[in-house]
Amino acid sequence: MSQISVSAPGKCILFGEHAVVYGQPAVAVALDQRITVRLQPSQTGTWLLDGNRLNMSRNPHISGLIQKLWPANMGAPPLSIHIQGNIPRSSGLGSSAALSVALAGALRLARGRWVTKQNSSEPNDWAEGFGSQIDSTNAYDSSTGFWSQKPTSQLFHLTGKHAVNDDENAILAHSVEAAAQNGRASPIDSSTCSHGEIVVISDNIEPELTHFYQRNLTTPEGDVTWQIHGIEVDNQSDDVYLVIGNTGINAPTGKQVAKVAKLLQRQPEKIEVINTIGKIARRGINALMSGDYDTVGRTMSENQLMLKSIGVSSPELEELIKAAMPSSLGAKLTGAGGGGCMVALTRNPVLTSDAIELAGGRTLISKLGCRGLTIETSDIDTIWTKS
Ligand code: PMV
Repeated sequence: MSQISVSAPGKCILFGEHAVVYGQPAVAVALDQRITVRLQPSQTGTWLLDGNRLNMSRNPHISGLIQKLWPANMGAPPLSIHIQGNIPRSSGLGSSAALSVALAGALRLARGRWVTKQNSSEPNDWAEGFGSQIDSTNAYDSSTGFWSQKPTSQLFHLTGKHAVNDDENAILAHSVEAAAQNGRASPIDSSTCSHGEIVVISDNIEPELTHFYQRNLTTPEGDVTWQIHGIEVDNQSDDVYLVIGNTGINAPTGKQVAKVAKLLQRQPEKIEVINTIGKIARRGINALMSGDYDTVGRTMSENQLMLKSIGVSSPELEELIKAAMPSSLGAKLTGAGGGGCMVALTRNPVLTSDAIELAGGRTLISKLGCRGLTIETSDIDTIWTKS
């Protein structure tokens, strides 16, 4: 029987949250914490999630991906999905993006990909699929991805890891996140969870970074375009870690984003703070690229002062940041703020973690950047191949 198992990491934002909403760059890193999705044919004739009947309406990310990649009306059989992992939910650490990325990769492995040239995994040769270079299918509508090029000639079936593509996993994850969040989702989570390591999102192509692709989304506020990049980090050998401290307080992202929007309406001069966060993020990117982690840490702390001045910190976050500082290179809130998590950059992860826990936070320790989507099983048979 097929054993398909795919994992994807969580993420945390190192620089630029909130300012990214206004076009400034933001930096996210993939965490050691991961979600693993395992797929098998269902033995019961219905979709199963961890052994129970899958409730499609309660699992919008999963049902969105099934609709796009596994169409029942074309004969795709029900599957049994198992999810395992150690990314806390609803805490700004990308658990839903990691799940979506891993499931998109697993479904693609389970069916392979039809291509127009034998053994070619080049997007130009795909006969079906989603990606930034494929204009003829749109992951953001209800399209199923069959067929971007109508089969006019002989097609070939590509299986295994060559059928899986990071851009496709990221675009599918972004589309189901956007659908689940009323049309508003930045691609930073989906791209970081798919590509891994360190990802920068900006409204411009940043010449000093590796440009991956552009993402466009029609939101209730209008059309938005993002440029997604990777950073090649210079000095991976430096022994630095991230310690994430969770306040346990739930503060929905939408509410925090609306709070900043209101502040800017009342006090338009506060846009200067947003611009300063952008400048700080650029300094952070340069420091990351040259492996200067002392400057990365200092820059994170400067970013925190700006976030505080636009009202998105909280007493609980400040407590955890204060506790982390004596043993850290720098610390700040991560994500939307108001609650949720903070992150510290440290060479003493156990000391920093203990200090945060003493101050009442729950902690996770991670290296700075981790592999993205990973196929965990080598022995793969496709489960369904529309032929
Ligand atoms: O809380 P998270 O990890 O979803 O991050 C939100 C980041 C914001 O900049 C506050 C919002 C956004 O859409 O970029």
